[in-house]
Amino acid sequence: MRKKIALIGGGQIGQILAMLAAQKELGDIVILDVPDYENSVKGKALDLMHMAPHGNYDSHISGTSDYKDIRGADAVIVTAGVPREEGMTREDLLSTNIKIIKGVAKGVKENAPNAFCIILTNPLDAMVYTFHKVTGFPKNQVVGMAGTLDTARYRSFLANELGVSVADITGIVLGGHGPTMVPLPRLTTVGGVPLSEIAPQELIDKVVKRTREAGTEIVQLFGKGSAFFSPAWSAMVIAESYLKDKGRVLPCTALCEGEYGINGLFIGVPCLITAKGMEKIFEIELTDEEKALLETTKDAVQKTVDECNV
Ligand code: APR
Repeated sequence: MRKKIALIGGGQIGQILAMLAAQKELGDIVILDVPDYENSVKGKALDLMHMAPHGNYDSHISGTSDYKDIRGADAVIVTAGVPREEGMTREDLLSTNIKIIKGVAKGVKENAPNAFCIILTNPLDAMVYTFHKVTGFPKNQVVGMAGTLDTARYRSFLANELGVSVADITGIVLGGHGPTMVPLPRLTTVGGVPLSEIAPQELIDKVVKRTREAGTEIVQLFGKGSAFFSPAWSAMVIAESYLKDKGRVLPCTALCEGEYGINGLFIGVPCLITAKGMEKIFEIELTDEEKALLETTKDAVQKTVDECNV
């Protein structure tokens, strides 16, 4: 039987998610949005069905505003909420998006209680925390997308600076999805060669800084709205690893219970994603400097979570 993927939120990211899931034939796709946007997501779904003959997929795509239609979903990807406008931080979205996420969590809990859930709505770390609290789902069933995107941005910037294929850059970004995130140049390699052996510190510092501000750089260019292509791809990489039991090791926002000295917070850490969901968090021995940076990002995430009052 085909897998079923429910996309909660059918805006900029949601529509790209639907296209990617169809092109990858990951399963049938339901796009759910608020009643005012029901026709809009029905139209997007129909448009994507008409892309199938040339896109070579048999996925069925539908739009709805009724949670009953997500019943039986294997995976749920949440982008419901408002995006940033120029001059806003992700935290500025909190009061609006927390209400939306609470409602979404209730709908998912009632209708797709076994689905693996990937959250993208910002401020991301706090929204994943809230979703997990409201659903009461086991921790392996809920992750946030952030680190996968932050690492992609880091790899992309490095590849451009070094003039090498992005495929040869491996790296990881830990921590919260914001300017306090922690890229780890010490563990970055370029085709197996340690980054520090081929790149001057100045270049590394520049890339780290740009990675931390990458989302804001895009918001400033758009003026209204935030990135959508790369967040969608990053979420789809996580979803695909789960749906196909690929065993990818990806930085995801996961519930730490003692790992990295963090307790009870969702934050970006390297995760093994299999058919069991977030099967395992890998711990890395950090230097004192890296530990201090992780402490700073942890405090930033904790502050936003405290404001959620959940
Ligand atoms: N249930 C379902 N969908 C909702 C709800 C809700 N309660 N509230 C809002 N939505 C829908 C909106 O109607 C809209 O279609 O969520 C969609 C959001 O789409 P966009 O406004 O285009 O935003 P997008 O760029 O997709 O970003 C969504 O992801 O990266 C984060 O910061 C970003 O929080 C934002 C989210």
